[in-house]
Amino acid sequence: MTLIAAEKTGAEWPESWRLLSHGIRTGRYTDPAFLKLEFEQLWTKVWQAAARLDEIPARGDYTTYTIGDQSVIIVRVDDDTIKAFHNVCPHRGTALSDGGCGHFEKDRIICPFHGWRWDLQGNNQFVLERHEFKSGKLEDKDVALREVEHVVFAGFVFINFDKNPIPFDDFISPVKQLLEDLAIGEMRNYWWKGIAVPANWKVAQEAFFEGYHVPATHPQLEVKAAAVVYGDDPNAEVEFTHHNITTDAFPYGHGRFYAGKNTAMQGKTNYPDGVDPVDAMADRLNLLAEGMDAQVLKADVEIARSLKGKPIPEGSSLGAEFVKALYTDAAKKQRPMPKPEPEVLGMWGGEFFIFPNLLILPNAGNAMIYRVMPDARDPDKCTFEILSTKTYPADEAVPRAIREDVTDYMNPEQVLEIPRQDLGNIPRMQKGLHSLGCKQIWLAENYEKMIMNMHREMDKYLGAPTES
Ligand code: FES
Ligand SMILES: [Fe+2]
Repeated sequence: MTLIAAEKTGAEWPESWRLLSHGIRTGRYTDPAFLKLEFEQLWTKVWQAAARLDEIPARGDYTTYTIGDQSVIIVRVDDDTIKAFHNVCPHRGTALSDGGCGHFEKDRIICPFHGWRWDLQGNNQFVLERHEFKSGKLEDKDVALREVEHVVFAGFVFINFDKNPIPFDDFISPVKQLLEDLAIGEMRNYWWKGIAVPANWKVAQEAFFEGYHVPATHPQLEVKAAAVVYGDDPNAEVEFTHHNITTDAFPYGHGRFYAGKNTAMQGKTNYPDGVDPVDAMADRLNLLAEGMDAQVLKADVEIARSLKGKPIPEGSSLGAEFVKALYTDAAKKQRPMPKPEPEVLGMWGGEFFIFPNLLILPNAGNAMIYRVMPDARDPDKCTFEILSTKTYPADEAVPRAIREDVTDYMNPEQVLEIPRQDLGNIPRMQKGLHSLGCKQIWLAENYEKMIMNMHREMDKYLGAPTES
């Protein structure tokens, strides 16, 4: 094995961890030492989405964020104040939360072992036999809960374990305005599932980094394109969806893909001959609504169908009329929506990646969110989360976001068709990456560039030698 000296860490940098000009060495996905380095150098220093605000809607509500061996309690103190604390009792180290979410009764955080107590701000309120500690000179600051840096943005609580991290505003700057335009901060919990997946966290999330997999993995979404892939009709005239997609690689490892002006919402039509365009549009939306129950919801499909038989005004298009109908319906229900500007519509159905592990797929008053977290010890395991979010009518109660854990992700009752198709590939990829016949993977320069951009940013944290 060739070893190269790593710059920041002083550790040896195996050949199997190298980024190549056209691909990635497979050790990054399979080597326990690489996972260990990720925890030491990436997860302890990077901004990461620890919670959605609707996990902690009321004063005293808390949720627990766990990444590797580290755990953070995120508490709502009042309408405008959130606190994030290391999940540990300063006395003898008991975890104050056992995981998941809950409520601190009477605004008291109490350690179950000896009953030390804090208020929601993390100030100590009670130490049994206080005079016994530090020769009777125990100060409040000695036993306050230790805070973790945090920032609220777009409905998320982002945390950073680094005491002196890069400013969040710098970190988020490439995508900040775009996400604000999409009103991601207005999205509230619809459902949230956690799935234990037998694959490296990067393998799992990179399965969602491009549209290039759609013809083979989701053939129902691109019938003609699938015919080309499977050789049934190699001469079929087909425009792959991913041909209409622009992929951007941003600084700080972020990225996105989007269709811009090439969407039905902006008037582009490619309905099959002899099919009613309203049926064609509604049927396609329905595949997404039934296949994901996220991004496109059943109510949106009904709104599309309601356009049947209605004339399209001069200068308008079916897509534009659909957008109008969506906004009329939302206004009636007092549902917040992003401004229907062409730039916003062009981002619907696309995807944002916020480095290192958050994907946001925005749509019309909905967004699907994926978050992928490594296992603490095993590079072949991760937790894949799907959060379906939407804006709610003003008078409708928003359910508290509580994660439901999936026990069998290939069971159609538990995971719907489209993510199930993706999840079917992921363990197979992980298996293949261990093959002696696979030392590197190849990446498409354009369609898969978000993957390379993410790994390049990772290497800055990990202290990879720059010549690699
Ligand atoms: S360990 Fe928490 S009070 Fe003793
Ligand atoms: Fe997919």
